[in-house]
Amino acid sequence: MSIRAVFTGIGKAVPSHIMTNDDFSKIVDTNDEWIQQRTGIKQRRVCGQDEAASDLAYEASVLALKDAGIGADEIDLIVVGTVTGDHPFPSTSCLIQEKLGAKNAGAFDVGAACAGFIYSVDTAAAMIESGRYKRVLVVGVDVLTKFMDWNDRATCVLFGDGAGAVVMEGHEGSDHGLIKTVLLANGEGACHITLETGGSRYPQDREWSEDKNPHIYMNGREVYRFAVGAMGDACMKVLELAEMNTSDIDLFVPHQANSRIITAAAERLELPEERVFINVQDYGNTSGGSIPIALAEAVEQGRLKKGMVVMTVGFGAGLVWGANLIRW
Ligand code: UT7
Repeated sequence: MSIRAVFTGIGKAVPSHIMTNDDFSKIVDTNDEWIQQRTGIKQRRVCGQDEAASDLAYEASVLALKDAGIGADEIDLIVVGTVTGDHPFPSTSCLIQEKLGAKNAGAFDVGAACAGFIYSVDTAAAMIESGRYKRVLVVGVDVLTKFMDWNDRATCVLFGDGAGAVVMEGHEGSDHGLIKTVLLANGEGACHITLETGGSRYPQDREWSEDKNPHIYMNGREVYRFAVGAMGDACMKVLELAEMNTSDIDLFVPHQANSRIITAAAERLELPEERVFINVQDYGNTSGGSIPIALAEAVEQGRLKKGMVVMTVGFGAGLVWGANLIRW
């Protein structure tokens, strides 16, 4: 009998500090009307100086384990989708492993930017379906505000910090869990969203890094064009693989980057508003945290219930994109 990777617990964590659009209008030449009209964002959560990715990830993980009704020592693998971990190394997953006391778990990070959770879920599911792992903790977390240029109005208003976590468990013969996934990439678009320094190409303290941008750079228009196409592309492909169509989708939970992108993708997929989940207004773009935070809120609000079919889709720096089709 085949093994399915079933979602048995979920949790989310965001920093307590809220930054509104009006707060940004005191820092850069922007205003609430522009931000809301172009992005749908009203506010975002921002980490304090002493807060980092592993703190949010730990908090979300504790809630996910509680929701699943299992102890940290019952987890045999931790997979964390992040591009803004506490350090280049050790991995953030190892920091969480220690904080949780998950003494029987292996741990590694997955670097797929805003599609980090989509990639991590598929990685975890493949390992569960192979029968080699039984219970995997999957976290999506990013703290992009630590890498922003607070003088660049074209990027600084877009991002926020946050984490979401799920427990995925192997269930034999179940029809719940991950149904199908598609993961896609196109490195030709690598130049459109970058953080140039801090890696082995331009280490931050070397002279040849001095003319490089130490902050997030994004070609917004180019990414916008890519995003609308990529979301439709990944969703159509995953539905085709599963031999399903959009009328089978109970809830669409896309990456929360911009409400205009989400609406355009939903229209292309002919998904009515009531089947589309949007919370970008409250958190901005939390990158790897965005989809699991949205899933957690959809559960909290009773919009995502056991047995429903949910389609998630993400896109981001790489360029990468992908979709998970799940029976919750
Ligand atoms: O998860 C990673 C994926 N990233 C994304 O999904 C982002 C995708 N891109 C977008 O969401 C949109 O391109 C943005 C929201 C970033 C920008 O919206 P846009 O409608 O594409 O605006 P634009 O870049 O074409 O800029 C229009 C104008 C420009 O002024 P001019 O040249 O027309 O005079 C910008 O300088 O808006 C100006 N502008 C702003 N004005 C007020 C740019 N940022 C701001 C701002 N406040 N914060």
